[in-house]
Amino acid sequence: MTDFHHLFTRPVRLLAPMEGLTDPLMRQVLTQIAHDLGTPYDWSVSEFIRVTHYPLPAHVFYKYVPELHTDGKTASGTPIHVQLLGNNPETMSQSAVTAVELGARAIDLNFGCPAKTVNNHKGGSVLLDEPDTLYTIISAVRKAVPSDVPVSAKIRLGYTDMGKMTQIGQAVKSAHASWLTIHARTKTQGYKPPAYWDKIAPFTTLGLPIIANGEIWTAKDATCCANQASTPHLMLGRGAVTRPDLIALINNADKTLTWQQLIAYQLAFLNDDTDNQKGLIGRYKQWLGMLTKGYTEAEDLWQMVKKLKLKDEIIALL
Ligand SMILES: Cc1cc2nc3c(=O)[nH]c(=O)nc-3n(C[C@H](O)[C@H](O)[C@H](O)COP(=O)(O)O)c2cc1C
Repeated sequence: MTDFHHLFTRPVRLLAPMEGLTDPLMRQVLTQIAHDLGTPYDWSVSEFIRVTHYPLPAHVFYKYVPELHTDGKTASGTPIHVQLLGNNPETMSQSAVTAVELGARAIDLNFGCPAKTVNNHKGGSVLLDEPDTLYTIISAVRKAVPSDVPVSAKIRLGYTDMGKMTQIGQAVKSAHASWLTIHARTKTQGYKPPAYWDKIAPFTTLGLPIIANGEIWTAKDATCCANQASTPHLMLGRGAVTRPDLIALINNADKTLTWQQLIAYQLAFLNDDTDNQKGLIGRYKQWLGMLTKGYTEAEDLWQMVKKLKLKDEIIALL
C-alpha cells in the first residue's frame, strides 16, 4: 500500500469542504487569495457528493468539481480532492474509480455530515456508530482506486458521544486510509464552540497523518489547536471564509489582506459569469455577512448590500 507520509513532511494547510459555502467559485477565490499572499493551500476538498444506489456518472462530478476540467486544480493551482458520502461500498467504489478516471487527485470519504436527511439514509456521521461499516466502506474504496491515489477519511469524534473513538481510529487505520481529518466535535455537538482539540491527540498514535479541524478563527487558535491535538496539520473551515488571509496569518507570512485589497476579490466573485445570477447574489451576501466577523469595515457595506437585489448596485457600492 502506498504510504503518503511524504505529503506531510511539513505542516499542511487545507481549505475545508463546506457544502453551499466552499462551492467551486468560493474555492476559486479563496485559493487565489492564499496563492497571492504567497501561502497557497496544500489542497482543498470538494463539497460532499452523495452516492446512493447507483454509481455516479461523469457529469455529476463535473458539476460539483469543475476543476476536473483543469487537471483537478483551481486556476491558482490548488488541487481539489473529491469527497464522497454514502454507505454502499460497491457504488462508492465505482464512483471513486470514475472520479479518479476523470482526474481526481484524491478521494475523501465523509463520515461527519450531521444533516438529518443524510443520517436517516445511513450516511455521514451516523456511520461513526458502526466502526465495522466504516472499515468496509473505506477498504472497498481503497482497494478499487489505484494505489498511488490517496483515499482519506473525514470524521467527527463520534455520533452522540465519544465512546467509540478507539474503534473508529482502528477501523480507519486497518482499512488503510491514507490520512484522517478530524472535526473535533461529535455530531450532537454540531457546530457549537468549543471544539475538543485535545480529543484528537490519541488518534496521532495510529501511525497515519492526522489533520485537525474545528473552530480555528485566528492564528492563536491554530497554535492552540496544533498543540492540543498533537499534530501540525490543520484544515480551516468557516474561519477561512470570514478571514480569507487566515492561512497567511497562521503561516506568519509577510503579507495579510486589507479590506481594500479584499474588495477586488469580492468584485471577482460577483463578476462570475454563471447563468444563475440571483443565486450568485445570494452567495455573495452570505460571504459578506460572514466577512463582518473578520473585518469591521464589512459591517457598513453589509447593512447597505443586504437590501439590494441588483448586482450592478452592489458592484457600484464596492
Ligand atoms: C455550511 C457548512 C457545510 C459543510 N459541508 C461539509 C461537507 O460537505 N463535507 C464535510 O466533510 N464537512 C462539511 N462541513 C464541515 C466542515 O468541513 C468543518 O469540518 C467544520 O465546519 C468545522 O470547521 P470550522 O469550525 O473551522 O468551520 C460543513 C460545514 C459547514 C459550516
